[in-house]
Amino acid sequence: MGKSYNIAVIPGDGTGPEVVRESVKVLKVASERFGFSLDFTEYDFGGERYLKTGETLPDSAIDELKGYDAILLGAIGHPDVKPGILERGILLRLRFELDQYINLRPVKLYPGVDCPLKDKTPEDIDFVVVRENTEGLYVGGGAFLRKDTPFEVAIQESINTRYGVERCIRFAFEYCRKRNKDKKLTLCGKTNVLTYAWDLWQRTFNEVAKEYPDIQTDYAHVDAITMWFVKNPEWFDVIVTDNMFGDIITDLGAMIQGGMGIAAGGNINPEGVSMFEPIGGSAPKYTGKNVINPLAAICAGAMMLEHLGEQTAADTIEKAVMEVTGKHLKSLAAGKMGYTTTEVGDLVAEYTSKL
Ligand code: IPM
Ligand code: MN
Repeated sequence: MGKSYNIAVIPGDGTGPEVVRESVKVLKVASERFGFSLDFTEYDFGGERYLKTGETLPDSAIDELKGYDAILLGAIGHPDVKPGILERGILLRLRFELDQYINLRPVKLYPGVDCPLKDKTPEDIDFVVVRENTEGLYVGGGAFLRKDTPFEVAIQESINTRYGVERCIRFAFEYCRKRNKDKKLTLCGKTNVLTYAWDLWQRTFNEVAKEYPDIQTDYAHVDAITMWFVKNPEWFDVIVTDNMFGDIITDLGAMIQGGMGIAAGGNINPEGVSMFEPIGGSAPKYTGKNVINPLAAICAGAMMLEHLGEQTAADTIEKAVMEVTGKHLKSLAAGKMGYTTTEVGDLVAEYTSKL
């Protein structure tokens, strides 16, 4: 008998429940086929619950979630809730309190997927962004001075600790070694202007690099990297960057891999509980219509299995997704796939059972 894993599922808002349902469907098929078991427990955190109870995450939730092997998240964000409340109160709070200090975002163009970049093929677009996930501008440090006067001052602080920067950079080196593709790690920063934070990042990067002579290192300013993503995405293997820059460049990464319909991410605590999510939002206008693309959530599920050590099952789901993009879907966009959300889930599940 294989292993057994307890998974907390937070379907969340909007189309979150629809895509998570398909992900769970595929995960169940994979677990049956590859001989391990998954036990799913659902939590109703999200906008609806907040509107009813005024509560984003009960304090007990954090402790409870620490008891799971992993968390699968759908989407957080509700049109009737002021922006920021749910993002800070649920998503960022989980990332911080569970100390998920890595945000891992693979950018990979699958077969048959329309790429907005001219002449680029799946061979050219296959890299991973390692985003620091617990520090930087996201800490929320700052202050107002003379608020609501013409002399108002708003301060927003970027917190970068040696400890936080180093553990992220180490993870990136290790990940790059394990990935074993081009064995090239690019630091993405802004050393020419942000001379405190990026000095620390650069020094730490150079020091840690000495322990990884097998990994080639490189540096790119964040503004330049947005240019290279479009012009020469094939240059990249693994990229490491801070929270804010990582947030920005991974949306661009999602677009060059075909859009939010396919982009998945993992919030990783290598020593604790990690959380996997499609990186697109809650897409209120498509909610309940059975037209949203579930592939990102399915890929998030595959990342979760890889993290749990079920590599063959994870690889098989990825291959199944490639069959579906390569042989079936007309587009990755909601409403234009040529299939419903449920049908796409069924197709991936079927390939997962037999590939
Ligand atoms: C992401 C999202 C979040 C972020 C938001 C929803 C808080 O954009 O996961 O990239 O900024 O990290
Ligand atoms: Mn983002």
